[in-house]
Amino acid sequence: LATLREAASTSGKFIGTAVADHRLSDATYSGIAAREFSSVTAENVMKWESIQPQRGSFNWAGPDRLMQFAQANDQQVYGHTLVWHSQMPGWLANGNFGATEMNQIMNTHISTVMGRYQGQINRWDVVNEAFNEDGTLRNSKWLQVLGRDYIANAFRAARAADPDAKLFINDYNTDGINAKSTGLYNLVRDLRAQGVPIDGVGFQSHLILDQLPSDYQANLQRFADLGVEVVVTELDIRMQMPSDAAKLERQSQQFARVVQACLNVSRCSGVTVWGFSDRDSWVPGTFPGEGAALPYDDNYQPKPAYNGILTAFGGD
Ligand code: G3I
Repeated sequence: LATLREAASTSGKFIGTAVADHRLSDATYSGIAAREFSSVTAENVMKWESIQPQRGSFNWAGPDRLMQFAQANDQQVYGHTLVWHSQMPGWLANGNFGATEMNQIMNTHISTVMGRYQGQINRWDVVNEAFNEDGTLRNSKWLQVLGRDYIANAFRAARAADPDAKLFINDYNTDGINAKSTGLYNLVRDLRAQGVPIDGVGFQSHLILDQLPSDYQANLQRFADLGVEVVVTELDIRMQMPSDAAKLERQSQQFARVVQACLNVSRCSGVTVWGFSDRDSWVPGTFPGEGAALPYDDNYQPKPAYNGILTAFGGD
């Protein structure tokens, strides 16, 4: 069990990574992505801004590259993401649309994007980051124009577009039991009760060193008990720079605890890290002074966190 994907497969779980399209041409990068991971998520190229930059004009080059990479390497694909307040193209963010037109725009995007990859994408983030920190719905353009039914309608459109894909709602800061995750929990419970086709919940898990919620596993379990699948979708554990041996060791233990939580929750199907190398991570650009959040260092050498993930999955 020398690789993450071999080790994870013994428990029937996937281990995934986000893939940066512009790094795929680097042989070191693509070699690790292929060898170590059994699932890939597009870090950016399946977002609305990238895939439908002008109304009715779709950009398939990046998504197609990822699909080919996944097929060549026998990997699952996790689709990210269809309906989100962020990374909207200008025509959508600034357009003055009424509810009928906005609903058409949403349905066309979902049916076109999911339709192109029908049967090839195992799971889709249909709705991303719909919540405020206090557990109320985020006041996005989707909510403003369409009202809270936009969520149920997005899932219905997604089921029609690809009946084989499992449909997820995904969010951050929902990793422990708190107001935001409870808002999400109540929504998922209500949607299921209404027969809305929602199959899973993604927990982004952009974590901070030494702040892994103690009820992380209990939170996954309460969602699983609603009958939905759960996935750790965007895991990283950032720290104040510079890193040192003690911090990297604690980070390794905390990666292992997240993996162990997924192993302990039978409806948890896998864990995806948000990139694998510190060199390519979004963290330093967004949180100045923080970094070292991933299992490989800037030179694509495995860190203690790599071994933490591997051994948690039963590898050595
Ligand atoms: O594509 C342009 C490129 O043409 C240009 O040269 C370059 C210069 O800045 O920018 C490129 O776009 C950037 C893109 O990443 C691709 O590198 C955007 O400015 C930048 O905002 C974008 O950041 C991404 C961010 O989402 C916003 O969409 C990060 O890479 C990505 O890791 C991050 O991922 C999100 C998840 O989708 C949702 N959950 C949170 C997570 C972290 O923020």
